[in-house]
Amino acid sequence: MSDTEQTLSIIKPDAVERNLEEPIKELFIKNSFKIVKQKKVQLDKKDAELFYKVHETKPFYNELCTYLSSGPILVMILEKTNAVSENRRLMGSTDPKKAEEGTIRKKYGLSIDKNSVHGSDSQENAQTEINFFFKN
Ligand code: CDP
Ligand code: MG
Repeated sequence: MSDTEQTLSIIKPDAVERNLEEPIKELFIKNSFKIVKQKKVQLDKKDAELFYKVHETKPFYNELCTYLSSGPILVMILEKTNAVSENRRLMGSTDPKKAEEGTIRKKYGLSIDKNSVHGSDSQENAQTEINFFFKN
């Protein structure tokens, strides 16, 4: 019996640009996540709009999609018991100013929009997001 779960993680353009891929991956590994798959991609604006479709009515949607497609990102499938909630905990609050000590966003996030990482927020969305990037 195991409740091993998968979640989707993205190292966003601000963090890739600052060469933070390795330090962030080390944090995942130190926190017992297995990186099952990874790839570096750059989305075009249309792809970013699809990926963030749940936010299409939000005032920040357009800027968010412009930003996510502004440079290369590292996309990973992470695996661990309770991976979705464990990753959300390790990432910290959306706004780095409010993020707990020791979290990725507290350590590396620049602002609420340039907050260095994405993580799925439910098992259902994790599956949708994994399929978005890794459907063969
Ligand atoms: O990424 P997370 O799930 O923590 O937050 P979200 O509410 O799903 O929002 C998605 C992304 O939109 C955030 O990670 C931010 O990059 C961005 N955002 C923003 O630019 N301004 C806000 N007021 C809220 C979110
Ligand atoms: Mg979210």
